Amino acid sequence: MSDLSITELSNDLRAAVEKLERRDGLEEVGVVVRVGDGVAWIHGLRKAGYSEMLEIESPHGSVDAFALNLLEDEIGAVLLGSDKNVIAGATVRRKGTVLEVPVGPELLGRVIDPLGRPLDGGEPIKTKQTGIVEREAIGVMGRKSVHEPLMTGIVAIDAMFPIGRGQRELIIGDRQTGKTALAIDTMINQARQKTGVVNVYVAIGQKLSKVARLVERLKQEGVMDQTIIVATSPSDPASLLYLAPYAATTMGEYFRDNSQHALMIYDDLTKHAVAYRQMSLLLRRPPGREAYPGDVFYLHSRLLERSAKLSDELGGGSLTALPIIETQAGDISAYIPTNVISITDGQIFLETDLFYQGIRPAISAGLSVSRVGGAAQTKAVKSVSGNLKLGLSQFRELASFAQFGSDLDESTKSLIDRGQRLTELLKQPQYQPLSIWQQVASISAVSTGAFDEVPPSRVKDAQAALLSKLTSDHADEMKQLDSGDKPDEKTTALIEKTARATAKGFKEAL
Ligand SMILES: Nc1ncnc2c1ncn2[C@@H]1O[C@H](COP(=O)(O)OP(=O)(O)OP(=O)(O)O)[C@@H](O)[C@H]1O
Ligand SMILES: [Mg+2]
Repeated sequence: MSDLSITELSNDLRAAVEKLERRDGLEEVGVVVRVGDGVAWIHGLRKAGYSEMLEIESPHGSVDAFALNLLEDEIGAVLLGSDKNVIAGATVRRKGTVLEVPVGPELLGRVIDPLGRPLDGGEPIKTKQTGIVEREAIGVMGRKSVHEPLMTGIVAIDAMFPIGRGQRELIIGDRQTGKTALAIDTMINQARQKTGVVNVYVAIGQKLSKVARLVERLKQEGVMDQTIIVATSPSDPASLLYLAPYAATTMGEYFRDNSQHALMIYDDLTKHAVAYRQMSLLLRRPPGREAYPGDVFYLHSRLLERSAKLSDELGGGSLTALPIIETQAGDISAYIPTNVISITDGQIFLETDLFYQGIRPAISAGLSVSRVGGAAQTKAVKSVSGNLKLGLSQFRELASFAQFGSDLDESTKSLIDRGQRLTELLKQPQYQPLSIWQQVASISAVSTGAFDEVPPSRVKDAQAALLSKLTSDHADEMKQLDSGDKPDEKTTALIEKTARATAKGFKEAL
């Protein structure tokens, strides 16, 4: 005993450990030597593996923990419950399993914590199946390239930065720039367009009042039936925040593996990295850059690798990911943002300046990109949005000259005019995702020049008038357009003609 490297062992504790050493089976049973800040240090359990479940006895029932730091003479384990009742000297057993959570359609419509315990006051969760929380990602052979659209209903995204099923697209920006709003609208759009895509929204360290408001809204919009909310609040132990995205991904994978489609929203991974840093420092892992442990890249890469479009042999299901990252003063070159940017297939960058100019969603045309979604873009939207991105970024560069209107040459002036109208058109209020035909008609109104005479301040009104005219007079053609196929010449001409007629009523600024 004397060579035990822990000095602060109390006499009681020494006795407990001695008693244990005399017994066989130290591999299976251990004893808590220290506990605090949600971490228990355990002597014994030599055979425990990484991320294995442990059960710690306490006077008020057992507390679960999982082993994360495997050292020579002790194990650092993270508690999944409160550390209040766990005392030094308590017996610890291996459960012989890794962490699993309930999965299945029974979770739809529910608000749960990462371990599948209800937070909505409803019935306890009973599912037929469970899934391993830290599952490995599917290999290359089990995948297929991304080719089906995941429509967000946000014109700026679907037209310029299309997202495909199985893709990982980062939403990044400072606080209060509309990051969550984009994700929510995307969820709502899945219900409006009846895509059948299941939403899994993960709130990482968010106030539960905020989550409750979100759930209320999703209910109103009729989206909750196809949604699972996995929530953790700032007062939860860091371990629970750490587990949240992995556990939720396991829940999403159930649908992917059953030939269905699921959309993961991780809101947000900045807080996730902070929770992991906190956990790691408590486990006394050496701090690295910005005090994050050295494996913080792996933290998010192994999570986002699980998004995939599966091969036909595996059923063709998909898991799409929209991770969210909060930046400080627009700095996308900080540690965690650069990591996640390099892991994902593109990013939607939200700019604070645009947000305060009233350009909402505040999507930066220059810094946003979607690397794989082009192949998946809806043909109808693709057919009208070819030059949008270039035009818009050129316009934003030139916008500062707009005030010298009369001194500009014709081509610059027309670029600015078009850009102004396009910027107005791409403004989109919250909770109003647009369907395919609405997007196609809106974009063509500006790109064909039909709205050139409409003053920028009235573009939104003209757009609304155009959409309602098309709904009332040409419902069949628009329904056909909603199938996503490239519009035929007749439909294209019809939209342009209606747009020109509509524009006539909006020539004067109000
Ligand atoms: N397209 C929009 N049009 C009008 N208002 C919007 C739009 N998008 C977001 N907002 C408003 O902007 C505010 C911030 O939005 P949101 O909460 O989505 O931002 P966030 O970046 O997720 O913030 P946080 O950093 O706090 O998580 C909210 O009040 C929201 O209603
Ligand atoms: Mg948010």
